[in-house]
Amino acid sequence: MKALILAGGAGTRLRPITHTRAKQLVPVANTPILHYGIHSMVAAGITELGVIVGDTREEVMADLGDGSRFGASVTYIPQDEPLGLAHCVLIARDFLGDDDFVMYLGDNLLEQDLEAFVGAFAAARDGEHPPSAQILLKPVSDPQRFGIASLDDDGHVVHLVEKPTEPPSNLALVGVYLFDSEIHEAVAAIAPSERGELEITDAIQWLIDQGRRVRTEILTGWWIDTGKLTPLLEANRLILETIEPRIDGTVDDESFIDGRVVIEAGAEVINSTIRGPVAIGANTQVVDSFIGPFSAIGADCEVRHSEIEHSVVMERSQVIDIPRLEDSLIGSDAVVSRSKRKPRAVRLMVGDHCQIDIE
Ligand code: G1P
Repeated sequence: MKALILAGGAGTRLRPITHTRAKQLVPVANTPILHYGIHSMVAAGITELGVIVGDTREEVMADLGDGSRFGASVTYIPQDEPLGLAHCVLIARDFLGDDDFVMYLGDNLLEQDLEAFVGAFAAARDGEHPPSAQILLKPVSDPQRFGIASLDDDGHVVHLVEKPTEPPSNLALVGVYLFDSEIHEAVAAIAPSERGELEITDAIQWLIDQGRRVRTEILTGWWIDTGKLTPLLEANRLILETIEPRIDGTVDDESFIDGRVVIEAGAEVINSTIRGPVAIGANTQVVDSFIGPFSAIGADCEVRHSEIEHSVVMERSQVIDIPRLEDSLIGSDAVVSRSKRKPRAVRLMVGDHCQIDIE
């Protein structure tokens, strides 16, 4: 089995961060989102990865390389315009050949491993009525934002619709799909949707209309489509809750570390309190500050005379004299500082290389 990983797209909902960075490489608990999916794929025994790249291809390619550090081999497939998920399958035809494959949206994060999901498809493929596809569904509170499935009384999928204004159910299509080679016929047969994209949802509907079997599974663990600030911070929170505490950096006698905290090598905590779950990246300095629950501070950062809670600060950024920074996403190489010391909480989404001075 192969994997097709989607790491293109514009990431408009995470601007300004995505002006300079692929949305799939935004870090969650100090690890790029995309890496979680790749690790999960490799753990499920899938090591031949095709990666669809768009405008941010250079960055994605520099980050993943040939895939060997993940124990995988990566083939890059450029997509010149974001023409839809089914279009990705279309242009990956040579890479995929006639193999079964898992398609994984690079900005999706799942609590559960892929292994059981992939194993269930393989077992069903060996059974009496082999399915052509398998989809993963999850009840959501905002079904207008997703592809939505309607099931019959036996739990078989009968209808799929992309981002419906009047949703027929609350079962969203999670961004992990399994296909056999029939999908190639489906993606060639469908027409672009109203938003001008070839929708994978329509391709799966085509399989159903042709009488092919589409297996469904309902996801029990959490799932997050990280494309916006709030879900991104939620993913950061959920992953930080699972990290193994480890202190490889230095903590002085005036500092206090409480709860689930990772401090990477070379990091220094001076006269500060770190209340987990928190991850502090390598060579970062935290001085006279408080880092509160659900914060991830990247490598080579500096936090001085500040309080940070429920936020992601990316590598090489500085947060100086900020009385309270919360629910924020700060890009890399950014400087957030304040000249006068008035108590004030700030909530920010700051792009890479920005300098914000709060007067
Ligand atoms: C895509 C799919 C949608 C699916 C969602 C999952 O939406 O089209 O069916 O529910 O991913 O993340 P998009 O991210 O393109 O809006």
